[in-house]
Amino acid sequence: MLAAISALPFIWAPRAALADSVEETATTCAGCHGENGVPIDKTIPVIWGQRREYILKQLWDFKIGHRKNETMAAIVDALTKTDMEALASYFSKKQWPALGQTPAPDDVKTKALDVISQLNCWGCHQDQFQGDYVRPRLRSQQEEYLLKTMTDFHTGERANFPAMESLMKSLSEDELKPIATYLAGLPSEMPTIGQK
Ligand code: HEC
Ligand code: HEC
Repeated sequence: MLAAISALPFIWAPRAALADSVEETATTCAGCHGENGVPIDKTIPVIWGQRREYILKQLWDFKIGHRKNETMAAIVDALTKTDMEALASYFSKKQWPALGQTPAPDDVKTKALDVISQLNCWGCHQDQFQGDYVRPRLRSQQEEYLLKTMTDFHTGERANFPAMESLMKSLSEDELKPIATYLAGLPSEMPTIGQK
């Protein structure tokens, strides 16, 4: 009963009052993705400075169920396409946070680069893993998140892009960890000259 009463002002509020500004909606996101862009948990991805078109596609994929995640599905449920566009613009303009993850040791780096060069991950994710358009930035993303999401492609749990799914299925689970460690350990700032 109490809950019903306290909910009344929201029911009565005109639609315009409910339509939050992008900044207000973004505070909800900050609860998990971090107030300063550093996520509260290592399995939650950085979205500050991520590619706009990639963010937009993911929000939409969560909404229509092409990418399955209960937490994000509940979040996007109330969002319209216009809200998503505003959020994608808002977060893509933020600066990627420095997470201070440790650079991969040489043996791990060698293992990672073996696979990366064989499958030419640069071809889509760009030469510094900075991403482009719907291809996400991977550089200095959270290590645990990277491992989780690559494993999800590998097992077919994440099935919203067939090419990534088949690439990850062509690898063994043991091959994923060094890649996650390597990508996470790349400095958040971009180098001025190409170095891999
Ligand atoms: C309760 C915690 C929580 C909240 C609040 C939340 N997210 Fe997320 N978000 C997650 C988790 C966890 C994932 C990773 C899902 C997975 O593993 O597939 C995620 C994934 C994402 C992704 C995919 C990123 C990538 O690299 O693929 C985007 C984009 C995103 N969230 C945007 C948002 C936006 C915008 C909001 C606010 C409207 C928001 N999230 C609110 C927990 C949250
Ligand atoms: C044919 C182009 C292409 C190639 C080659 C490619 N990727 Fe991707 N990758 C994508 C696209 C596009 C997405 C976003 C898929 C979606 O819409 O969810 C993606 C997503 C990812 C993600 C998820 C990032 C996130 O924030 O959730 C990871 C991790 C990843 N790729 C790693 C790799 C690695 C490692 C390789 C090399 C072994 C690779 N990719 C090769 C196109 C590619």
